[in-house]
Amino acid sequence: MEVKIYNDYQGLSAQVADHVIDLVKQNPEAVLCMASGDTPKLCCQLLVQKATSENIDFSNVTFIGLDEWVGIDATNEGSCRFFFEKNLLDPLRFRQSNVRLFNGLSDDLDGECERMDAFIKGAGPIDLMIVGIGMNGHIGFNEPGVSFDLYAHVAELDKTTTSVGQKYFNTAIRLDRGITLGFKHLMESRKLILMANGAKKAGVIKKAVEDEVSNIFPATVIQSHSNAVVMVDKDAASLLQNSLSVAANK
Ligand code: GLP
Repeated sequence: MEVKIYNDYQGLSAQVADHVIDLVKQNPEAVLCMASGDTPKLCCQLLVQKATSENIDFSNVTFIGLDEWVGIDATNEGSCRFFFEKNLLDPLRFRQSNVRLFNGLSDDLDGECERMDAFIKGAGPIDLMIVGIGMNGHIGFNEPGVSFDLYAHVAELDKTTTSVGQKYFNTAIRLDRGITLGFKHLMESRKLILMANGAKKAGVIKKAVEDEVSNIFPATVIQSHSNAVVMVDKDAASLLQNSLSVAANK
């Protein structure tokens, strides 16, 4: 696992966007998986700008959404689907048949997980997975205590997730379960980027990078991946031991 530190959120986001652009230039049929949330917002904007100005074709790229809130309608702007469609899939004109997002309203959530696993098995492995980190160390909805042996699954959300998650919604909302890719998917991806910015993420980044690998703090899983990079701005890196950090040039 490598750690790369950027001066600010802009520099971090531009670098992650460049990773995606480089991947699609090398392989126009790449398989990309991303998290939604505040962290990748600017990366998505920059990605759309760069792809548009460089005329990069995303119509043969496969996109997989990392997770979704159970019971939340796709028209709700707090849903992950809403985020992906608005910030990435519509502006980059992904082909619908190349996109697989969880349906959090499905009345057969186990079937939804099986369909997602089958889709990834058919289209995968995932070439690049870009994930964020929650304030309890979750990735996707892999909550503390999660088994590292799972593919897609439905998770009971812990208190931190249900309260922090309110930030995505206009009005207070009941959040109790999530549907998510599992750590088997993470471990099988060819490249894994964990991105984080801001001082509020400094504590969780320190734990993800420096704590012993354990499901007590799920994001520590990144240390076990053979091709993982933790990409953070200076604020999110502020509690890291120097020896573990590689200062990035941008
Ligand atoms: C959310 C999502 C994750 C996301 C994480 C961090 O609850 N389930 O996929 O990466 O928490 O979100 P943010 O980037 O808004 O801090």
